[in-house]
Amino acid sequence: MPLHDAYQHQEADGFKQDVLTGLASLPKSIPPKYFYDERGSQLFAEICRQPEYYLTNSEVKILQENAEEMADRIGPGALFIEYGSGASEKIRILLNALQDMVAYVPVDISKEYLQQATQKLAVDYPQFKILPVYADYTHEFALPPIAAAIDATKVVFLPGSTVGNLEPMDARALLESIRTVVQPHGFLLIGVDVTKEKHILDCAYNDAAGVTAEFNKNLLSRINRELDGSFDLDTFLHRAFFNQDLNRIEMHLVSEKDQFVSVANQRFRFHKGESIHTENSYKYPLEEFRQLAAQAGMKRVAYWLDSQGWFSVQLFQVG
Ligand SMILES: C[S@@+](CC[C@H](N)C(=O)[O-])C[C@H]1O[C@@H](n2cnc3c(N)ncnc32)[C@H](O)[C@@H]1O
Repeated sequence: MPLHDAYQHQEADGFKQDVLTGLASLPKSIPPKYFYDERGSQLFAEICRQPEYYLTNSEVKILQENAEEMADRIGPGALFIEYGSGASEKIRILLNALQDMVAYVPVDISKEYLQQATQKLAVDYPQFKILPVYADYTHEFALPPIAAAIDATKVVFLPGSTVGNLEPMDARALLESIRTVVQPHGFLLIGVDVTKEKHILDCAYNDAAGVTAEFNKNLLSRINRELDGSFDLDTFLHRAFFNQDLNRIEMHLVSEKDQFVSVANQRFRFHKGESIHTENSYKYPLEEFRQLAAQAGMKRVAYWLDSQGWFSVQLFQVG
């Protein structure tokens, strides 16, 4: 299946630059989008299967129970564009409900995984036009010419609480750019994790099988492999906790000793206990997220919660 490559026009050297800048900063940090090489994407799919990671189960149930109503609200003949499509599993629920979807455009930064996921999807759903795009959606990117030429209601689908990985200001900027993609009458269908008790959140990001820890440390393996890094993975610990003041899960990799690490011929000093901040996952009260989207010019027209009220899927329209 041909892959529309919008990434090569974005930042060819972005990974190296961002890692070197992030390791030279205090505190050290690396943007979470770099978790997702092929192995990182596989590990994320495994995280979704862990019992503590309620986010996937809750969102899947919401989509299964409400897909018909979502389809009615969106109307016939829509073009779906999924930002951060990963395994492209959740879209299957919508493909089943929206039989007249004119095309599905999965967009992801993880190239090989995107190719594999969309090939599987194309085998299972041969009746749909599937047009994968390799791109970083935090930068402007072009849709494949076939998709751009389709005159249909556009719907950006952004499940998985992926929006929570952005700082609220950046989330607002992304929603603004989505508005320009779907206007004049299009929609945003988005999965947003809801604020809840600390222990549920802490458990979700510290699964007993250690998959989230492996996912976090895979970033160091990727740096070792792609940027000639010298990280000793056994000397870094996965740490994830809910920061109640900032309403976000923070993920870190903590150095267990004083050490130097080299990356792309540059040396970086770590003190014992010093961390690399690798991810935030913001949680939003329902009203707060409505307001954030309103600032970006999107009007909430519906939302659905799971039975525990732990996760939400929200539908916004330009306006
Ligand atoms: C939290 S996972 C969600 C995956 C899937 N949508 C789900 O709901 O299970 C985030 C996905 O977004 C992709 N991603 C993260 N940052 C991205 C970026 N800046 N541009 C494109 N894709 C990105 C990752 O590769 C990954 O597949």
